[in-house]
Amino acid sequence: MKEGVFVITKEEWKNIRGSSPAPDQIMLSIKGDAAHSMTVRWRTDITVTEGYALYREVGTTHWQKADAEFITFNTDMDDSNFFFADMKALKADTEYEYTCGNDDVRSPSFTFRTAEENCENFSFLCISDIQAGDAEPPADYSVLNEVLKKFLSEHHECKFIVTAGDNTNCGQTDIQWTGLFEGLEGIIESTPIMFCMGNHDDMGFSSYFTKEDKYYSEYATYFTNQLWGSYEHNGPVERPIANHAFDYGNAHFCCTGTSGYEEMNEWLIEQAENSNKTWKFAVHHFPVCYSSPDMECEDTYPAMRDGMDKYDIVLSGHEHSFARSYPRRGEGLYNKPSEGSVHYNLGSSHRNGPGCRVVPKVWNAKTYNHEEELSMFSIIDIDGEKCTLTAYVEDGRIIDYCVIDKKEDTIFPPECAPVYNRTRIKFKGYDLGLCTEPTLPQNIDGTFYIAIGQLINFVGGDVERTAGKIKVGIYGRTAEFTENSTTVVTNNGSYEMSKPCLRLNEGQLFVPMDDFGKNLRMHCFYYEHNNFITVETESQDRPIPHQP
Ligand SMILES: [Fe+2]
Ligand SMILES: [Fe+2]
Repeated sequence: MKEGVFVITKEEWKNIRGSSPAPDQIMLSIKGDAAHSMTVRWRTDITVTEGYALYREVGTTHWQKADAEFITFNTDMDDSNFFFADMKALKADTEYEYTCGNDDVRSPSFTFRTAEENCENFSFLCISDIQAGDAEPPADYSVLNEVLKKFLSEHHECKFIVTAGDNTNCGQTDIQWTGLFEGLEGIIESTPIMFCMGNHDDMGFSSYFTKEDKYYSEYATYFTNQLWGSYEHNGPVERPIANHAFDYGNAHFCCTGTSGYEEMNEWLIEQAENSNKTWKFAVHHFPVCYSSPDMECEDTYPAMRDGMDKYDIVLSGHEHSFARSYPRRGEGLYNKPSEGSVHYNLGSSHRNGPGCRVVPKVWNAKTYNHEEELSMFSIIDIDGEKCTLTAYVEDGRIIDYCVIDKKEDTIFPPECAPVYNRTRIKFKGYDLGLCTEPTLPQNIDGTFYIAIGQLINFVGGDVERTAGKIKVGIYGRTAEFTENSTTVVTNNGSYEMSKPCLRLNEGQLFVPMDDFGKNLRMHCFYYEHNNFITVETESQDRPIPHQP
C-alpha cells in the first residue's frame, strides 16, 4: 500500500454507505410495456433473502403484490442483495403508489404514472456524464441531486430519464454507484431511469483508493449485476443489460454498451428492423459527430455505421459538450431527416465542464462551447411524427432548439449541410482554413492529392522541407516523401505508394490521399455528396512541433 493513501475498509464502509436490511437505492425502470408495467429495484444487505413490492392505484385500498427476484452481488466494498419486482397488469395513464421491502422492513410509499395507451405524445429527459467525485470523501453527487430536482420541478412533462453514459467516474466500485444513487434519491423512485453505459462505467482499479492497476471490465460486471432485473435481456447474448432496448409509446430505444462493437452493430440492425415504432433512438456514449479537436470515434464509426444509420436520432455524451449534427448517413451530410441520422451529443448534466475545447466541425449544425460550471439537460418531446429537441443550461437558457418533422421531412430551424464547389480538406472534421486556401486537394485521374506540409503544420506536427523532399513527423512517427517518387521512407522502414508524390499548387508537394498516412496512422474519408476530405486517426494526442 502506498504511504499516505486514504483507505476505507469494508467494515468501515458498512457504516458509510453500506447496505442494510432496509431497502435503499430504490429505482424504477421500464421493462416491457410502459403502459401496463413498471419495474422497481432496491438494495439490502445479504441477511434479507425475500422481498416484494406492494402497489395499488392511487385512491384505491387493495394492494397487489409483486414478488421480487434478487441477486447477491459482492462488490469491492460490500456484499449486497439487489431485488427486482415487476409490477404488472397496470392500467394505462394511471397513477400508482407502491412500497418495497419484506415483511419486516419496508420503504416509504412512492408514486408513479404509467404511459398512455399507444402513446404518441410524451416527453423525456436526457442527461449525460453525471460522473463525479473521488475516493476521499466518498463520491459526492449532492449537486446533481439539487440541480436535477430543480430542473425536473420546472419540467413536470418528463416521463422518464435516459442517460448517455458516464453515470459514474469509476463504475467498478461501490463507492461511486452508492454516491450516484444518493444523488438520484427523491427522483428515480417516481421517474424511471434508463441507464446507458459510458467508458467510466466499466472502469476499475485493483483498489479504488490507490488507483492502481486500472482496467476496463469487458462485461461491465458492476453495471450488469446491479441492474440485472431492471431492464429486458434483449441485448446481444454475451452482454445483456450493458445493451438493452425498450419502447415507450411510438418510440423504440436501444442503449448500447462500450464493448463488442460488431455484436452491437448487428443488434442495432436487428432491433431497428424488428421495430415498427415511428421513432427510433440509439444511445451510445461515444459521439460519432464529435466536436473536440482531438477526439476520435474509430471503434464506433464505421464499426457501427450500418446499425446507427438506421436510427432517427443517436444520443451520445463523453465530450461534456453539446453538439447536434446534420442528418448523416455514412460519409454524407444532408438536410432532410429521411436522408440520415441526427447525432445529438449531450453536455454534462453535473457541472462537469469539458476537458476538450470544442471547435466547429463540418458535420455539426450546432455546437455549444460548454465551459461554464453549469449543468446541461435536454428534453425530447414526441408529438406523433414530430420530435422537438431542446437543450438547456441549468440556469434556464436554451442553447439549441430543433424540430424534426417526419411527415414534412424537414428540420426546423433550417440549416443546410455544406456542398462545396472545390474539394476541401478537414482534420477530424475541422477545416484547415487559411493554411490550405491556395493548396486545396487536387483530383488527378481519380486520385485525390493533398498538400502534406500544410496538413501536418495545421495539426501541430513537424515539417522539414528540403530540395524535392518533405519530411513530416507526428504521433511519434515520421514519413519522408520525394517529388515524383512513390517511395516513402519512414521510421519503420520504407514502403511504396500507389501514385507518386507530386509538386502541385504553389510549388508544394502533394501526396495521394489513400496511402500517404500508412505509417502516420492517418487515413482519409471523402464525403462525395459534400465534396470534402477529412483526415482521421485513432490517436487522441495533441501534437506539438519539436523546438530545438
Ligand atoms: Fe464523461
Ligand atoms: Fe466518457
